[in-house]
Amino acid sequence: MAEPSLDDLETPPTAVAELAAAALTERTGVERHDLALTLGSGWGAAARRLGEVVAEVPAADVPGFSVSGVPGHPGTLTSIALPNGLHALVIGARTHFYEGRGVRRVVHSVRTAAVAGARVMVLTNGAGGIDPAWAPGTPVLIRDHINLTAASPLEGPTFVDLTDLYSARLRGLAQEVDPSLAEGVYVQFRGPHYETPAEVAMARTIGGSIVGMSTALEAIAAREAGLEVLGLSLITNAAAGVTDQPLSHAEVLAAGREAEPRLADLLARIVDRVARDLAARP
Ligand code: HPA
Repeated sequence: MAEPSLDDLETPPTAVAELAAAALTERTGVERHDLALTLGSGWGAAARRLGEVVAEVPAADVPGFSVSGVPGHPGTLTSIALPNGLHALVIGARTHFYEGRGVRRVVHSVRTAAVAGARVMVLTNGAGGIDPAWAPGTPVLIRDHINLTAASPLEGPTFVDLTDLYSARLRGLAQEVDPSLAEGVYVQFRGPHYETPAEVAMARTIGGSIVGMSTALEAIAAREAGLEVLGLSLITNAAAGVTDQPLSHAEVLAAGREAEPRLADLLARIVDRVARDLAARP
């Protein structure tokens, strides 16, 4: 029989996630990853601050994963032993919806994390800020999202409840770590072009405060898979039209690099708090 593939629509995508999780167990020697993180622009330095690296696996060696075409995304999956003995899976290989490779690939990492045993999914990204109070370099907790991609990672009549998609409990733990963390509503556009000022004005009018191209679809798949979601955006730039500055990917990456040490420290403290909470729950 042919190996299950994400391109074969007759095969459920979880079959490929099972292969991927088995490959990770084999390559890392870790039977179960308790929580998983996807590290977007600006968040990459956090991986090594979380704990001890057990193994680093090239994404291309794990079924269903591929190397990201986006500069600034490393293309590895890293298994980390946390100080309290739990294990984290750090996904540095995001596939964006705008790559046009299908939504199954976009959320494959989330489904793999769920099969690998994760109970919490931490989704991070670099994003544009609509609230002018958020200077580039500000981290913001995602409270909710508006999905403007016109797509869903769910197939068939899968009527998943998205009330409290971004767990209030986990946001509370993050705010225990840093009470100054603001919360915002993430609006996902398809991209890869940045938004027009009129689109950003629309996003603001309909209740959004952050614009990005990644996290909403991943969060929906995480909820379907039974994961609790914590979402964090780094504001890398003022969204289009919020200031009179033009936008560039170089600027986004530079803001990410500049904020990275601070974010790494923040994320390590949040993950430590969440992992201690997980260890205390049956
Ligand atoms: N819009 C969408 N995605 C982004 C932005 C933005 O302004 N900045 C970083 N990712």
